[in-house]
Amino acid sequence: MKATAAASANIALIKYWGKRDENEKTPLNTSISLTLDSSFSCTTTVEFSEKANEDSFSLNRKEQRGEALARVKEFLEAVRGMAGISEKARVSSVMNFPAGVGIASSAAGFAALAAASGRAAGLDLSPSELSSLARQGSGSASRSVFGGFVKWSGESAEPLFPESHWPEIVDVVFLITKKKKSISSREGMRMTAETSRAFRKRLGVVEGRARKLEQAIEKRNFERLAELTMEEAEEFLECLRDTKPSLNYLEPLSHEAAKRIRELNKNGIKAAYTFDAGPTAHIITLRENLESVLNALKPLQLTNPGTEVRVSGLGQGARLVSRHIF
Ligand code: PMV
Repeated sequence: MKATAAASANIALIKYWGKRDENEKTPLNTSISLTLDSSFSCTTTVEFSEKANEDSFSLNRKEQRGEALARVKEFLEAVRGMAGISEKARVSSVMNFPAGVGIASSAAGFAALAAASGRAAGLDLSPSELSSLARQGSGSASRSVFGGFVKWSGESAEPLFPESHWPEIVDVVFLITKKKKSISSREGMRMTAETSRAFRKRLGVVEGRARKLEQAIEKRNFERLAELTMEEAEEFLECLRDTKPSLNYLEPLSHEAAKRIRELNKNGIKAAYTFDAGPTAHIITLRENLESVLNALKPLQLTNPGTEVRVSGLGQGARLVSRHIF
């Protein structure tokens, strides 16, 4: 059977970085994210068929090999195991944003793959089972199964508040380079957990920060959300610097963007910056401050022609769609 699903990327305000269990892919700490809207989404069609001799995977119409194909194959093995089938699959994904630059492409990709392959294999999974399956592909994908504000601390993520709870929130995504990162999140977080003292210290405070952030979201207290988001972003960067050998996913321009936001906030907090494992700066703000944020970033955009700004509101979780890619 053939099935197609779409899912969006998400941006973590409290980061997942470090696994409790490498095989189970469960996280060391609670993470909280916003699911982005369809301007950062991946659509995937999966078909299991007796005619297929091998699993195949195309991304944006380009046949994938090596690591990308291996990760999809490993994921399909898990799905076949759950469904008790042996047919190989054809997987085709279309992504409307660049991969590997700090916009959680693997989150959108594996959430869409989980929903499409689960259905195509005849599994009838609950949202929480789907989240748990998506986690097998990439930890952050467990959160993209749900829309709005999402929390993840164990086997599966859970929705905290829907998009309608705080529709004024937006992520101004400042794309700095399309160059892919050389050390994957998987490898980077393992290195940090093994070598960083700052990381061990972080484990003692991050749960408290996650709880405070949850409260700020519940009360729609933007100033508090922004403070906690930036505190978390700085701690995440500190842990990367403190890893041996040290990790740097950012570009000078990423830091410049954060500086612009700190300047903008001097007369009262208007926005918060955060980063994933990549140079892209995510500026979280309210729609009423959008123009000020865009103006703050404009000089950087004008002097750096390769950059791009895209604005995303909160979006929905993974869903089946009727239009197949093939
Ligand atoms: O889901 P992974 O294995 O690609 O790791 C995601 C790590 C961060 O994006 C840096 C943080 C997060 O929680 O999304």
